[in-house]
Amino acid sequence: MCGIIGFTGYLNSADVLLQGLSELEYRGYDSAGIACFTENGVELIKEVGKVAALKAKVPSDFHSTCGIGHTRWATHGGVSEVNAHPHKFGKVTLIHNGIIENYHELEKELALTGRYPVSQTDTEIAAMLLDSLYEGDAHETIKKAVERLEGAYAFLIMFEDQPEVIYSIRKGSPLVACQSEQGSVIASDMVALLRFSKDYFVLPEYQIAKLTKTSITVTDLDGELVAPEILSVTWDTTAAQKNGFKHYMKKEIFEQPEAILRTISPRIHKNLCADGHEQLLPDFSADEIDDSVFTGVNRIIVTACGTAMHAGLMGKVLFERLLRIPVTVDIASEFRYQNPILDENTLVITVSQSGETADTLAALRLARTAGARTLSIVNVKGSSIARESDYVFYTHAGPEIAVASTKAYTAQLSAFYMIAFRFALVREKITKEECSEYMHLLLDTIPAIEEVLKQTENIKKISKRLVDSENLFFIGRGMDSALACEGSIKLKEITYIHSEAYAAGELKHGTLSLITEKVPVIALATQSDVLSKMVSNMKEVRARGAMVICVTTEDATIESNIYDEKIVIPTTADIFAPFAAAVVLQLIAYYTSVARGLDVDQPRNLAKSVTVE
Ligand code: G6P
Repeated sequence: MCGIIGFTGYLNSADVLLQGLSELEYRGYDSAGIACFTENGVELIKEVGKVAALKAKVPSDFHSTCGIGHTRWATHGGVSEVNAHPHKFGKVTLIHNGIIENYHELEKELALTGRYPVSQTDTEIAAMLLDSLYEGDAHETIKKAVERLEGAYAFLIMFEDQPEVIYSIRKGSPLVACQSEQGSVIASDMVALLRFSKDYFVLPEYQIAKLTKTSITVTDLDGELVAPEILSVTWDTTAAQKNGFKHYMKKEIFEQPEAILRTISPRIHKNLCADGHEQLLPDFSADEIDDSVFTGVNRIIVTACGTAMHAGLMGKVLFERLLRIPVTVDIASEFRYQNPILDENTLVITVSQSGETADTLAALRLARTAGARTLSIVNVKGSSIARESDYVFYTHAGPEIAVASTKAYTAQLSAFYMIAFRFALVREKITKEECSEYMHLLLDTIPAIEEVLKQTENIKKISKRLVDSENLFFIGRGMDSALACEGSIKLKEITYIHSEAYAAGELKHGTLSLITEKVPVIALATQSDVLSKMVSNMKEVRARGAMVICVTTEDATIESNIYDEKIVIPTTADIFAPFAAAVVLQLIAYYTSVARGLDVDQPRNLAKSVTVE
């Protein structure tokens, strides 16, 4: 949600910022802008639309070695050039990711000092506040300003009379920084730092970073020096590039076998049995997730947003089947305001690709305050959710750039499966033999996905049948019902076709009235225990004229006259079918979006990392 970057060093800052903004563009793409120190003071260039439009506006002879850049996802104030960041007021120029909640109150106060904004943004009010407080001491000014600011923010700030220096502070919204021979860089996400260094640090909340060409110093609000922990990325610099694929989404779909393997394999303990055969058991000792986390738990709550929440829906089915412990899945933005019932025997699992989603982070904080145990499943190392959870299970999906989440989802599923197996083992719900069998089946989901990836031409052809649809349904039972939710969000977010996910048996209680020959139905029929029921539901929709695309397993017997198209995944034990089936649904969404000529990686109005409520 808004991407920000600052650079001061020995390169042309406009080039660095524009390149960084294109890497951060997945965070928002309503408008973009840069502000740089030049021989004429601080100069601003802004443009509505994508970074490419801004780039076209930057003169080729623009020279500067220090500046800040922003790509916006609009919250306060419409999409316009005047509302685009950076904002300059008096001696202060800044960019912001987050929301200043008390900006109205501050605006009224600042009016009394003769300061009036020209934009409709909360951000400009922050610039006005800093300007009103500035008497030459940046640290003191920022300290006083944050005492007044409510909400979430990551700021990069330049003061007109302090050339080549960038200041920064954050609360809630993410910021990472690194130092290299070419200069100092700070940004919302590590992907924009990779060209400079693999080593970086997360700016701690309420601490002020001062970036000069040769150093980054971090101090707390009292001016004491702080030494943030240095982290390193494990993936290589090409991981965040398209590598020959037309879209990030397709590349990330194809990366799923590796992403799942990277998530599972470091956590496999090979147990040699007395009879010489080897058992594969989940082992979280390197994650420092102690088995005691699982003992005494009598309730599990999964809380997350979007696709991560859908991974939780699958986790619920799995946990309840294997553990016989009640599990609820709550949307994080609802959970945090519901006064949830929590105690020390409740395990709250938060799931987040970015580790920065504002509502999920708030839900986690609430759970901790109430004394619940917290475990998070997170992809981004060192992110806020990871740092604030009692225990972290990192997925190793690598950087995910497309707004529509794909490899992060299947990596989250594999995390849920491993946690469920370890949990069940510790609670003696399954034997080591059974656990090892499950682990083998989990690993077998990788070749099953590879089989699906070989069917792309067929799925592309079938997807063409959806191109002109305006409404569509995904139906399924059991795990397929949970998967339907993910299939539906994937399709609607990138194709703009209205779609609904429905438990197949529920359709006749109202929604069947919407089924006509113009409303295709994607029927998920991978669960053998409910296959005959699912077949009946498919007949019901087909009888109302729907074009039915059936996703099922090789061994399932379904009469050919009740579907129009069939996509087959390898047969496996029911609980492992969602992996390959998820990839089918991702490919359907992808090819339908491409066929409709849409921007697959950056769908309208959306952003990947949602750091506002
Ligand atoms: C946004 C993204 C989704 C994502 C959700 C939660 O809406 O577009 O793809 O699932 O946020 O994000 P998180 O980073 O917490 O998984």
